Amino acid sequence: MSVPNNSLFLSVLGITHTVNMLILNKTAGVFFKPSRRKIYAFLGSFHFHPGKLFLHKLVLGIETSCDDTAAAVVDEAGNVLGEAIHSQTEVHLKTGGIIPPVAQQLHRENIQRIVQEALSASEVSPSELSAIATTIKPGLALSLGVGLSFSLQLVDQFKKPFIPIHHMEAHALTIRLTNKVEFPFLVLLISGGHCLLALVRGVSDFLLLGKSLDIAPGDMLDKVARRLSLIKHPECSTMSGGKAIEHLAKQGNRLHFDFQPPMQRAKNCDFSFSGLQHVIDKMIMQKEKEEGIEQGQVLSSAADIAAAAQHTVACHIAKRTHRALLFCKQRGFLRQSNTVLVVSGGVASNLYIRKALEIVTSATQCTLLCPPPRLCTDNGVMIAWNGVERLRAGLGILHNTEGIRYEPKCPLGVDISKEVGEAAIKVPRLKMKI
Ligand code: KG4
Ligand code: ZN
Repeated sequence: MSVPNNSLFLSVLGITHTVNMLILNKTAGVFFKPSRRKIYAFLGSFHFHPGKLFLHKLVLGIETSCDDTAAAVVDEAGNVLGEAIHSQTEVHLKTGGIIPPVAQQLHRENIQRIVQEALSASEVSPSELSAIATTIKPGLALSLGVGLSFSLQLVDQFKKPFIPIHHMEAHALTIRLTNKVEFPFLVLLISGGHCLLALVRGVSDFLLLGKSLDIAPGDMLDKVARRLSLIKHPECSTMSGGKAIEHLAKQGNRLHFDFQPPMQRAKNCDFSFSGLQHVIDKMIMQKEKEEGIEQGQVLSSAADIAAAAQHTVACHIAKRTHRALLFCKQRGFLRQSNTVLVVSGGVASNLYIRKALEIVTSATQCTLLCPPPRLCTDNGVMIAWNGVERLRAGLGILHNTEGIRYEPKCPLGVDISKEVGEAAIKVPRLKMKI
């Protein structure tokens, strides 16, 4: 991979140096013949910005765990000073899924530019950073490797502390950047690669209540969208699979198909999506026969199938989440009032699924909170913010990165899903009128 070139960062440094000098000239009057050492000690305690004075710690976050190359600079108060992202979605849509070496190559081609853009937008120089935070787990090995080796070079070059980040922890904590949310809260993370319910008790204190036993809902929706050839649909050709399903579902009638939610008899908080995906696949094949069309053409009933698939996914997710809320309240893990359910991850941008979850939260006197859509999908801000959270809590800040490795597979927190299943909580039936 390409090595960050010094001149690239010197240009950013140059801007800040000039600003520092300007501020120094303006404020020089307040010092009485200060020594150079005193001035630099004084300056060192602040972060300067054109027209602004930062008293906060600044963290650069770098994300490359899957198919987005993203970076951001966030301060201790949660201000996003600069961010940049390069999405590979279009390329992967064409190849019908993520091919890891292709993702790796695209990360390599873009990481330097993206980090530079985030730093330039923030007008913060690398030397002013308090730490560099980077996703090192879980994710695609080849993708994680690019972000990690780039970050380690920066850490080494600018002698900064390094904060390794768990991608799902970052998704879970993003809400604390946008809303005042205290621990504990329940989090539902639903994306293309993950599906889990966890109790968040602290910055790195999670109890895992349930997870998908096979694929994640985003992966399933991507596969259904591909099988429906939605890339050929004029309105959906540039959308991710999940977004295309949501878009098309608005034009369909879900009652034309009846797909049963998975795992109805298992009284736990685990999920499953691959069985449902196969049932939908079979139905698509049957419809293609009925309509006399070849695989690869868009069915006339595509919108109805999308609507029914989305509804079934929403009901399955809502039911497991409902059980998790009841379990946590029963055990005293969550407050009886002012309980918060946070939903994040790419699939959380789906408004239909959110409505299903709202039905659950209003039945259980909870508040549903979701980060804004751009912070639900992968981004650099959540990584930088996780760095800030860890910096404030004094957790996992490395001054020596020797032996640090990325981990493609890494569970989140302590797994108590067996205990949840043993509690076998019966969930009251809710009318899913969305
Ligand atoms: O969190 P994310 O950007 O990446 C990871 O998987 O970690 O999530 C991407 C996933 C994809 O599977 C995409 O199809 C899905 O989120 N997605 C959606 C929507 N927007 C993105 N799924 C359902 N409805 C959406 N509006
Ligand atoms: Zn993600």
